[in-house]
Amino acid sequence: MDKPTDKPMIVDAWLGRPTRHIPLWLMRQAGRYLPEYRQVRAQAGSFLDLCYNPDLAMEVTLQPMRRFDLDAAIIFSDILVVPHALGQHVYFVEGEGPRLDPIDFNQLSFNPDHLNPVYEAIRKTRAALAKDKALIGFAGAPLTLACYMIEGRGSSHFPKMRAMMQEDPAGFAALIDLLTDAVIAHLQRQIASGCDAVQVFESHAGQLAGADFAAFVVRPMRKIVAALNKKVPVIGFARGAAQDDLLRYATDTGIDVAGIDQHTDMGWAAANIPPRVVLQGNLAPELLLAGGVSMQRAAQRIRTLMAKRPFVFNLGHGVIKETNPDHVAQLVETVHGYQP
Ligand code: CP3
Repeated sequence: MDKPTDKPMIVDAWLGRPTRHIPLWLMRQAGRYLPEYRQVRAQAGSFLDLCYNPDLAMEVTLQPMRRFDLDAAIIFSDILVVPHALGQHVYFVEGEGPRLDPIDFNQLSFNPDHLNPVYEAIRKTRAALAKDKALIGFAGAPLTLACYMIEGRGSSHFPKMRAMMQEDPAGFAALIDLLTDAVIAHLQRQIASGCDAVQVFESHAGQLAGADFAAFVVRPMRKIVAALNKKVPVIGFARGAAQDDLLRYATDTGIDVAGIDQHTDMGWAAANIPPRVVLQGNLAPELLLAGGVSMQRAAQRIRTLMAKRPFVFNLGHGVIKETNPDHVAQLVETVHGYQP
């Protein structure tokens, strides 16, 4: 194996190099489970006002880093800023979630300047963050963005997205292509602003399987990874994908790191995903909510399964808002206590 570099330790782990201990970060590590987040959020006005305020976005990005010895910060933003920058009206209904006005396909055009506050937040946060901590940029993957854009809101089933795929396959494919280019532009600017890695959230990968998964999840992701030109490690998180689809996603897109959700067995992932793809995951957020010995045992089991390969610890999905912050401190201590 290669020698460690002078980069943050977690960057070495994402690149498959040995590390002193197992690095970790948590999806949604900034957010409503932290009282200091709720305070800034109340001052900021709307959720999107917070996303587009570089100083406040930096502040909430750094909040979990002050409390916990996490190895990476993830810039505070949202995947839905990309549809917003394409000209679709996006807003958040308190206690319910995102809403998007119907798409006007003739008007969709990506304006990266709309996202300048995000890039400024990244520059400021990178300058403020300790050198041994990484800063992660991110975007939603094209299919996941299309789900919200077509449906106009979150859903477990995305019936309108399904209908469009069947009734207007050319229009659907064109939307995925347009989103692929917008995601590339957004990630390139985040990298140019100082991000040490990027994660692409395909949170609704599980909506598709087989040939559809290959066309609308794997193919766009391969184009995204190629366009980023190995400047920084790329993490792909295809949540809910079936095992055979996940395997193809991990091996055929060129991603450096595969994020694993908690419904995928890490023993299966360790045995089937080639070791050149680094694994990241997958403690159930429900176990972080529970805390204590059950959480520690589950974390230990994941560690044991990953003992023979490069690994970054994470949850299988985002921190649940009722989580006690003390459980996060406990988890960080548990994971960092392991010798790889
Ligand atoms: O700490 C971090 O992980 C960085 C910040 C981050 C947020 N959203 C903040 C946020 C990230 C990486 C996201 C990604 C995101 N946003 C995803 C992909 C990851 C996933 O969860 O699968 C998705 C699908 C979205 C879209 C989105 N944003 C939804 C569906 C919601 C509503 C959820 C809810 O429970 O209300 C959001 C809002 C959102 N994004 C919040 C936060 C902290 C809560 C908003 C608030 O403070 O009121």
